[in-house]
Amino acid sequence: MKGFLASAVSGLALAGFVSGQACQTTTLTSSVPTNSSTKLALASYSYCGGTLNATAYIANVDYNKVVSLYYTNAQGQSTPLSVVNLGYSSGIGNGSWELWSTSTPIYIDGITKLLNLTYQATDVGKTYVQTLNLPVNATGGPAPTLPSPPAPYATPKGFGSDITSWLSVNIGSESETAFQRMFLNINPAIPGAAEGVVVAARSGPSYIQTNPDYEYNWVRDASLTMDVVQSLYSAATKAKAKTAYQNILFEYAAARATEQNDPGLQTGLGEPKFYLNNTIFTGPWGRPQNDGPATSAITLMEFATSYLANGGSIDTVKQKIYDSATFPASAPVMKDLLFVASNWSSPSFDLWEEEESDHFYTRMVQRRALVLGAAFATKMGDSATSATLSTAATALSATLAQFWDPNREILLYEYGPVLNGKSSYLDTAVVLGVIHGYAGDGVYSYTNDQVLLTALRLATSFIDVYAIANTTTDSAGLTLGIPIGRYPEDVYNGTGTQTNGGNPWYLCTAALAQLFYSVSTEYADAGSISLTNISKPFFDYFAPAAGLQVGQTYTYGSRKYNQAIGGLNGWGDAFLRTVKHYTPADGYLSEEYNRNTGVPQGAGDLTWSYASVLTAAFARAEVRGQKGYVRGLADLGVVGNTVA
Ligand SMILES: *[C@@H]1O[C@H](CO)[C@@H](O)[C@H](O)[C@H]1NC(C)=O
Ligand SMILES: *[C@@H]1O[C@H](CO)[C@@H](O)[C@H](O)[C@H]1NC(C)=O
Ligand SMILES: *[C@@H]1O[C@H](CO)[C@@H](O)[C@H](O)[C@H]1NC(C)=O
Ligand SMILES: *[C@@H]1O[C@H](CO)[C@@H](O)[C@H](O)[C@H]1NC(C)=O
Ligand SMILES: *[C@@H]1O[C@H](CO)[C@@H](O)[C@H](O)[C@H]1NC(C)=O
Ligand SMILES: *[C@@H]1O[C@H](CO)[C@@H](O)[C@H](O)[C@H]1NC(C)=O
Ligand SMILES: *[C@@H]1O[C@H](CO)[C@@H](O)[C@H](O)[C@H]1NC(C)=O
Ligand SMILES: *[C@@H]1O[C@H](CO)[C@@H](O)[C@H](O)[C@H]1NC(C)=O
Ligand SMILES: *[C@@H]1O[C@H](CO)[C@@H](O)[C@H](O)[C@H]1NC(C)=O
Ligand SMILES: *[C@@H]1O[C@H](CO)[C@@H](O)[C@H](O)[C@H]1NC(C)=O
Repeated sequence: MKGFLASAVSGLALAGFVSGQACQTTTLTSSVPTNSSTKLALASYSYCGGTLNATAYIANVDYNKVVSLYYTNAQGQSTPLSVVNLGYSSGIGNGSWELWSTSTPIYIDGITKLLNLTYQATDVGKTYVQTLNLPVNATGGPAPTLPSPPAPYATPKGFGSDITSWLSVNIGSESETAFQRMFLNINPAIPGAAEGVVVAARSGPSYIQTNPDYEYNWVRDASLTMDVVQSLYSAATKAKAKTAYQNILFEYAAARATEQNDPGLQTGLGEPKFYLNNTIFTGPWGRPQNDGPATSAITLMEFATSYLANGGSIDTVKQKIYDSATFPASAPVMKDLLFVASNWSSPSFDLWEEEESDHFYTRMVQRRALVLGAAFATKMGDSATSATLSTAATALSATLAQFWDPNREILLYEYGPVLNGKSSYLDTAVVLGVIHGYAGDGVYSYTNDQVLLTALRLATSFIDVYAIANTTTDSAGLTLGIPIGRYPEDVYNGTGTQTNGGNPWYLCTAALAQLFYSVSTEYADAGSISLTNISKPFFDYFAPAAGLQVGQTYTYGSRKYNQAIGGLNGWGDAFLRTVKHYTPADGYLSEEYNRNTGVPQGAGDLTWSYASVLTAAFARAEVRGQKGYVRGLADLGVVGNTVA
């Protein structure tokens, strides 16, 4: 490595750069261990310019291996973040040994000492450890520092009439299209599909999708879709439409109970995925995903609450929704809630089905399920379950503070080591966690300053990643919001993985819009905006004209308040305008739009894409005080699930 040549530069220029020198690699061994009881050995490491590199020899004792290098951070502490996982790099000789390695930017946490190398051979249930206790010196150029958010490229203000008409209740609008297309995927007209299931996606006139194959009923996707049906049910005033939604929701409850009782569950109620006949998918997969039982219970409790308010009987709710102890074949909610209460602290796979860890998204939806569940169980006369859920909610809530990282100035999407190269720790899952998981009790609400700063850092992270972010206006000259994907390091392109292959997703871009509308509503309800040093950068970017200051409170209706809210509403619409801009003329939504061309990509007719546009539209209507909006859409009624 050439690196930074200290000797060639004057001492003056280098003042303060104690680490200004060439990269130094420390080599511990250059051959595989010969001692037959040794199964691992750190070969070499360096910490140069803020990046930790390491290579290790790993004995090939089984197929599934987890190799972790533990260290202490700049403060000399060992935390769940001060670990890097090594990845397979090559086989050695006859394959009895392998070389594993990592190159991970860890400068934000810093490093003082390598503690140990741990190798879990998970198939054979063995763990091997090499104790290290090696002090680490930084070499190379100075480590980068946390970048400040950029200056805004636009200052959109207020709602756009283009978005208002795009989301109107009229036939042929995007809202109406999303509504109809979503219902085609609920109880889909596919031979063998069970009642109450939701197909995750389809493409073209046939439901058959092979690339990618999304012809399954995912627990999470189904619950989020049914949550939209639940909103339509609550708002509908036309009897025929209301009854249709009610029937679908009861079928969904029964389908969830069927899933819970499937004899083939491998990881309990966290099983993520079922065939359309609603029997378990048993192939290799990222399981468990413990958000599903929570989001399903939330949707069904909300439905039951509306159903009761609408004159429904409490006995029907117990029999078909809540009381799994007495009606295990038909009522899923109590069982899902008790599963959440006993399993929330176990790591599980995230909503993108990629990483097993402790996830902010999963904790947030679990928390909401427990908080709503405790109140709902009381309503069902079940004080024992209520107490169990309350206790779990309190314990879970106490863990949420760990997700705030003062060094990165974000809410981490997961509390654990860098996985899959996601060293930014940014993920739209955090925004979705607030949207799907806010329990309405002030804990990590939309306007929480940590949530706002995370949304800013997340959104701006995509500007340098997607070429289409450089298209900042549509043909009418109106501002396009930043295209939003899952996370900046994403390599999934909708069918496979590719270097720089990750794309913006419709549902992620719509999620930012929805967050902004909900932020606006929450400030209106509170009657004022107050800034902290954490939330200030958010307002500086999204509402610079207001010039809001830390420590000040801006009252509802004041000039600066209106300027700030105008900025937030303008950006909410700008994000939806990006969705609109990259939506094809027929209004159908795939999973993704290409990062370079904006052309739709990945699964066609993704049900969750439709649900996300509808929930964003509902949040927009709420902040605009359009009380009849959801009702107008709901009263259109389900045309039917014939294949178009
Ligand atoms: C081989 O490794 C084992 C376990 O690490 C150790 O106990 C033993 O002393 C080593 N043998 C030799 C000859 O170094
Ligand atoms: C593979 O090579 C190692 C030496 O690296 C040797 O100990 C081992 O016996 C070899 N295994 C086979 C199956 O040949
Ligand atoms: C660390 O690894 C990266 C990626 O393999 C490589 O580009 C870089 O040169 C390495 N740094 C050192 C100091 O070896
Ligand atoms: C490795 O270090 C980590 C962090 O200190 C510690 O939690 C873990 O127990 C260590 N592993 C072993 C096997 O000693
Ligand atoms: C790290 O720096 C200290 C103090 O400058 C020095 O004594 C030590 O040898 C260095 N360690 C390595 C591994 O270079
Ligand atoms: C459900 O569908 C899957 C996939 O088509 C099939 O393999 C399975 O046999 C079906 N199960 C039942 C009970 O029909
Ligand atoms: C859920 O909790 C139960 C009871 O504590 C336990 O038996 C089960 O293994 C847990 N399941 C998962 C997936 O963590
Ligand atoms: C956007 O344009 C700027 C200036 O031309 C360029 O530096 C940047 O790399 C572009 N971004 C992408 C993602 O292509
Ligand atoms: C996505 O990646 C897969 C696998 O690398 C590749 O075969 C496919 O062509 C890529 N898709 C697109 C649209 O680039
Ligand atoms: C905010 O202020 C607190 C207390 O003064 C300080 O510890 C923290 O680092 C500041 N955070 C940011 C993001 O500026």
